[in-house]
Amino acid sequence: MDIDQLVQPERVHRRVYNDPEIFERELEKIFSVTWIFVGHVSQVPNPGNFFCTDIARQPVVMARHNDGAVKVLFNRCGHRGAQVVSPESGSAETFRCCYHGWEYAMDGKLLAVPQPRGYEESNVRPGDPAYGMAPVPRVAEYRGFVFASLSLTGTSLPEFLGPIASSIDDMVDRSPDGEIEVAGGIARHLYHGNWKLVFENLCDGLHPNCVHQSSIEAAQQQDDAVFSDGAGEIGVRQMRQNGAPWEFWENQVGSWAYQFGHSYLGDYHDDAKLVAARFDPSFADYFKAMEAAKGKERTQEILGVTRWNTNIYPTISFMSQFRQLRVIRPVSVDKTEVLGFCFRLKGAPEKMFHDTIRFANITNAVASPVLTDDLETYARIRRGLTTNGNDWIAMARGLGRDTEEADGGRCAENGLSELHIRNMFDAWSGYMVA
Ligand code: FES
Ligand SMILES: [Fe+2]
Repeated sequence: MDIDQLVQPERVHRRVYNDPEIFERELEKIFSVTWIFVGHVSQVPNPGNFFCTDIARQPVVMARHNDGAVKVLFNRCGHRGAQVVSPESGSAETFRCCYHGWEYAMDGKLLAVPQPRGYEESNVRPGDPAYGMAPVPRVAEYRGFVFASLSLTGTSLPEFLGPIASSIDDMVDRSPDGEIEVAGGIARHLYHGNWKLVFENLCDGLHPNCVHQSSIEAAQQQDDAVFSDGAGEIGVRQMRQNGAPWEFWENQVGSWAYQFGHSYLGDYHDDAKLVAARFDPSFADYFKAMEAAKGKERTQEILGVTRWNTNIYPTISFMSQFRQLRVIRPVSVDKTEVLGFCFRLKGAPEKMFHDTIRFANITNAVASPVLTDDLETYARIRRGLTTNGNDWIAMARGLGRDTEEADGGRCAENGLSELHIRNMFDAWSGYMVA
């Protein structure tokens, strides 16, 4: 069966989740072509700071050069090919390869070769780009979010983001100082399943009531005093809200999809601001700081944006309400690594950042009573799809009921639609068949 037959309007062939050849093709046709999130500028605030990650399974390093620019380099020595930078992050004056000591600047330029005698008759010289750490072909930034592409040509980052850039705005605008920073370390986990599953899950309003039932019930049994006190509030609120009635998901939670596979789910914490304002004095301080910095009207406008997770396909999913971001890194057809970042809003009370960390632990961490349900589900999908009884996976919910938006996006019938999945496969087919 050809690639272009694997995706149909309401279903998709199981091979897209479990065929190693398809996975290799995704690395080549999607991850090596499009814009991939590398990191946030706050991870490299000063010259010499670096952060290592990968693009299409190739190690790269994001570094702040002496001239202040953020560079993204292939993490590979110009001599005999060793990975040069090995800690995930840190600070250094130069990068020095462990093998024979070749030294590089933060822009990848070869600075020095120990014992240069012996290279006289060759082209090996400091400064020769052929022997440097090569820069990744394209790097671009949007409001502190650094993206890179392994392809020299193609869509620009502004074109690629399109209207979904407004979700990044939503994250950054919530900072009274207009800046956010990654803080509190990076939490990571590996799950047994294909990388696409997590994107499908994060905008899936249909699953919480079922898969997260145990934590919903536990939270519903909590006394309201726990619900409203500073310590338990976020976790209990989140778990209770996962159990919002069907009518709520149908009538009050929307879902929107855009070109290139991007989408977002509407916020389903209708009570979020009310509860925070009522019970949390730090929220009142935050409100004041926002009004002082941006004025009443603009503050209302910023805090009036109600989005839950935004997926920027195929690398990140993030959420402004509790300042979380997940980076999705495909490892193999049935293994995926997820990095969890928390952001601090500069100029906001420190208590809000504590809430951010607590939210990460309660819902996004491997010991959380919420994420573990989703991980179990991914593993079951991986096993279920090995059966020969049925080759197809449905993504039909809400089909034919989307409406066109003025900004070029599509609005789903409601928060239970599978529009975001169909939309990702539209993009997937475009990349894979190209
Ligand atoms: S491989 Fe890096 S210096 Fe030899
Ligand atoms: Fe979930």
